[in-house]
Amino acid sequence: MAGRYKFPVQRSKTAVHLLAVTIFILIVNIAFWTDFNHIVRYGHYREATRKPSKIDDLFIRKTELSPVANPHRHRFVSTLENKCKQKNVFLVVVVTSSPAHAKHRNAIRKTWGNETMFPQGNVRVLFALGRSDDAQVENAVQVEAKARGDIIQEDFRDSYRNMTTKTVMILRWAVTFCSGAKYVMKTDDDMFVNIKTLVRHLETLQREVDLSSGLFMGAIQTGVHPVRSPPNDRYYVSREEFNEDVYPDYLSGTGYVMSMDTVRRFYVAALMTPPMPMEDVYMGICAQREGITPWDHSGFTFHRFGFTVCTHSHQIVTSHHYTPTELLAMWEALQTSPTECGWLRSYFSILYAKLVKRFSMIFPCLFMGCGAIEE
Ligand SMILES: *[C@@H]1O[C@H](CO)[C@@H](O)[C@H](O)[C@H]1NC(C)=O
Ligand SMILES: *[C@@H]1O[C@H](CO)[C@@H](O)[C@H](O)[C@H]1NC(C)=O
Repeated sequence: MAGRYKFPVQRSKTAVHLLAVTIFILIVNIAFWTDFNHIVRYGHYREATRKPSKIDDLFIRKTELSPVANPHRHRFVSTLENKCKQKNVFLVVVVTSSPAHAKHRNAIRKTWGNETMFPQGNVRVLFALGRSDDAQVENAVQVEAKARGDIIQEDFRDSYRNMTTKTVMILRWAVTFCSGAKYVMKTDDDMFVNIKTLVRHLETLQREVDLSSGLFMGAIQTGVHPVRSPPNDRYYVSREEFNEDVYPDYLSGTGYVMSMDTVRRFYVAALMTPPMPMEDVYMGICAQREGITPWDHSGFTFHRFGFTVCTHSHQIVTSHHYTPTELLAMWEALQTSPTECGWLRSYFSILYAKLVKRFSMIFPCLFMGCGAIEE
């Protein structure tokens, strides 16, 4: 009799194990996979200090001329006024670049930033520069700007600690010369950006939810502490520049997208917010001030995402730390190889992206390269 009852007990043990494994796999899937290309809205700013306001051109001009906390009194050297004249501009990608990085710009022009890929002509890619102290470099920039017609420049000194000024220049340029565009993206010249994937996501989002307004999307950075020493660290911020112990949530400066109404709100907020050297943190401070909610998109990665043809042609939007030579080689591989991803590969690459994103919150220097500034 006893033997008769043993059997079902053992069977139910196996069932419990099976169930546990299934639940585990489900949780891993839900946590790391299913929302891969989805967006997490960071609702931390519900207590907005200001109501979203309709900011028209007159309000912007008035703010520019009034005595504000961050007067942006720089002269445009190059405005590219005609770059954005057509009505149908969907996306403008502005790449921050240092004057000496002609090689980086050329690699981007030949690869992911080649506008001719977009037959409707509704995507613009351009570079944002300050002035170089080196006369030779500055002359070369002027020649390049004339030849290529894709450089916007103001007369402030181009340096890592002046990045915030450059971002304000981008905002100013967009509201002044490109206010008809739907979206503006800011990224850097050592990035890979898959504009096609980004456009696809923006179009999908626009169909699903009304994203024509309020968009501020990228890779979220949350709970980041200011670096207080040593003073020559790339990320050093003094108490005078930022006095709290934790930054507000912000989006990594490696790549973020804004809808045009958000750009206008950011520009006005920036004029009224005292500057601090980390441009992406600064945008987070302005977002908090304006009540703009940052959205995290899993396709925006700020580390060097291991290159595979399938991930870079379908899944990720941004990936960091590429030399011009690497960009060119990657691009060639993307043009010549088949682009399908098997499910196993998709699964593990997505899992990897999510894990790295989470770990980088705990060990930022491992992925973002803290250390002294080399200029
Ligand atoms: C961009 O692509 C077009 C078409 O493939 C090509 O003719 C052009 O040379 C490319 N531009 C650059 C700067 O490589
Ligand atoms: C930033 O730009 C301003 C204006 O050109 C310049 O005076 C200042 O020295 C620059 N700051 C740094 C850290 O390069």
